[in-house]
Amino acid sequence: MLRPLLFALSSSLGLLLACSSDAPSGGGAAGSAGGDAGSDASAGASGAGGAGAAAGAAGTSGAAGSGGAAGSGGCTWDEPSSAEATFPPLLSQTGLYSDILTRTPAADARPYEVAYPLWVDGATLQRWVVLPPGSTIDTCLQDHWRLPVQTKLFIEISQGSTLLETRMLHKTAEGQWAMVAYAWRDDLSDADAVPDGATGVRGTDHDIPPSWDCRYCHSNGRDAALGFSALQLAHQRPGVTLSQLIADGRLSAPPTTTPVVPGTPEQQAVLGYLHANCGACHGEHTSTGSWVTLRLELRLDALSSVEATDTYRTTVGVPLSMALPGPTQRVHPGSLDDSGLYYRVNRRGTSQMPPIGTKRVDTSATAHIAQWIESL
Ligand code: HEC
Ligand code: HEC
Repeated sequence: MLRPLLFALSSSLGLLLACSSDAPSGGGAAGSAGGDAGSDASAGASGAGGAGAAAGAAGTSGAAGSGGAAGSGGCTWDEPSSAEATFPPLLSQTGLYSDILTRTPAADARPYEVAYPLWVDGATLQRWVVLPPGSTIDTCLQDHWRLPVQTKLFIEISQGSTLLETRMLHKTAEGQWAMVAYAWRDDLSDADAVPDGATGVRGTDHDIPPSWDCRYCHSNGRDAALGFSALQLAHQRPGVTLSQLIADGRLSAPPTTTPVVPGTPEQQAVLGYLHANCGACHGEHTSTGSWVTLRLELRLDALSSVEATDTYRTTVGVPLSMALPGPTQRVHPGSLDDSGLYYRVNRRGTSQMPPIGTKRVDTSATAHIAQWIESL
């Protein structure tokens, strides 16, 4: 496993350096920052922990940069704009459908699936992406793609045969995204934008999150999309995939290796689940506050083994930073009772994780997490 790691690492360092050329005026300085990050990371390559720390530091300096040309190792990283992006009041006006009555997607709305989906209380999710014609995705940072202006992403949520809502992310300008959900009407003639959210949609117990909740999860990275990523698109299922994007020449710097989540299928399921459902807040660029050092995001340069992942390193045997009634560690090997991570995913209400967007425990995921903790 070491060889592919080093290969991936050195190729991504190559990308960091190569990418500095497209940074606007500050390109020279950004390029040398990339060089520093590179030597740190290669020095740490003999121990995955070292590599992780170096990459984390590079990422942090990028996020703390004053935006614009300031970059993570030469890759531009825009500060999210505080300006409100506008969105059409009706789903039929967003461009997702050529005919909303027959629910025929527009020709340029391409469906895709993700390896590890978001849990929305057992609902079924369907996704589409609209990339502007001829545009290229900036993959300078393979963990944090930056999508072209005018990209639109949609995720449609239904419970059984009941269509509930369609969420939209629309990049209206660099660093600026409209994030809103559309609630379907009972007659399915259209869906209305609900920026303040909605409760008990169409007679179910499903609630639609308000737009500020969207931002809580979707505004922590280099760009807004969470599932439209190298790791999440590295699969063979129908629709847009990582290999198809590479074949179509859509990536500014195609990855040279396919990301593979480490471990047994059981371990992969746990790591992937935590990445998708928790990584947006518990990642390199967290919204949880720096006092919570918990990281559940999978980084492509730390996939050489389960133990090399931030998920393992920041949970197993690590004491909780937020006290809970009972558990004292994040993950106490072999003990569910003393594992705060398990306590929090396995409940709803006070201390639930994730804190928003769900009101039912994902029993299948918690069973996998329980098995994993007991096997440690
Ligand atoms: C609890 C965190 C969370 C909240 C709250 C949330 N999302 Fe997401 N969303 C995710 C994750 C994680 C994915 C990727 C996984 C998937 O596609 O199943 C995702 C996927 C999406 C996608 C597909 C594109 C992408 O990012 O991969 C859209 C569009 C989207 N969300 C819009 C919204 C909107 C609009 C809201 C608010 C109404 C919202 N989301 C609220 C976590 C969240
Ligand atoms: C929308 C953002 C968000 C998401 C998504 C999220 N968390 Fe959190 N998490 C937080 C915040 C904020 C805190 C700190 C406040 C608190 O303790 O409630 C936290 C704290 C924690 C803690 C306590 C860490 C400690 O050392 O005490 C654990 C454990 C945790 N989260 C696990 C998870 C898991 C597991 C998931 C996914 C199933 C998840 N979180 C998803 C925001 C989030």
